[in-house]
Amino acid sequence: MSTITLSKEQIHKGNLILVNREYGTQPASEEPLAPASDAAPEILLQRCAATLLNQLMQEIQGWHSIVPVSGWRSGEEQQQIWDNTLRESGLAFTEKYVAVPGHSEHQTGLAIDLGLKQEHIDFICPDFPDTGICRIFRQKAAKYGFILRYPAGKEKITGIGHEPWHFRYVGIPHAKIMEENELTLEEYMEFIRQYPHGAKAYRFQSGIQEIAVSFLSGRHCGCTFPDKADFPTLHVNTAPVSAVINLPDHHPYTVSGNNIDGFILTEWR
Ligand code: DAL
Ligand code: ZN
Repeated sequence: MSTITLSKEQIHKGNLILVNREYGTQPASEEPLAPASDAAPEILLQRCAATLLNQLMQEIQGWHSIVPVSGWRSGEEQQQIWDNTLRESGLAFTEKYVAVPGHSEHQTGLAIDLGLKQEHIDFICPDFPDTGICRIFRQKAAKYGFILRYPAGKEKITGIGHEPWHFRYVGIPHAKIMEENELTLEEYMEFIRQYPHGAKAYRFQSGIQEIAVSFLSGRHCGCTFPDKADFPTLHVNTAPVSAVINLPDHHPYTVSGNNIDGFILTEWR
């Protein structure tokens, strides 16, 4: 049996954190950053996202024709982008394509804007068509843990216009689950609540491996879990909090906060 200890702060950390108009980023991520590509060492991503992006690009030989346009941004940079876009293109355009400073996924280091390599590349809306190498990238993205974060038709849910160039690292197998079920990150965060840890997990088959995804509520008061020892309920009003979780030995697992009120547990069985 494994015991994991989680602190309230960890709700705001991990590959699955939901960052949007409603839920902002926590100040200065301490996650180590790495270049998104060798050719553009100034464009940074969280290390895991950078590694998987390069594995994907290796498979499709993508860096011959695709360039990274924007990766990790500081809060100041996001503010500058907001101010410049507002001045040059007006409020409606800015709200459609630039996240409010403090609410951009780029501030987490988990998002990357990609553009087709060409003479002029638009920084806010780079060209990333649904043809050729860009289409191949999009088709392979989920296998490497990336989702198209702002799809067409889901603008009311994401609060952002369709951005074919913006990809968000959420990790494996979550990107695949989201793609198969046509869920945005907002919808996935709701979806996964149906699978409280200890009751039923969402099962995902990857080759011969079964992966179980479940939700751990960080709320003690008002939570819907029965008060049983095998239904871990985290007391996040005091830090650190601990949850006793029955996990078979030698089976890897990851935990990510949702940036709202709990955690997503992923177990490889
Ligand atoms: N373009 C996306 C929404 C951002 O500014 O984070
Ligand atoms: Zn972006």
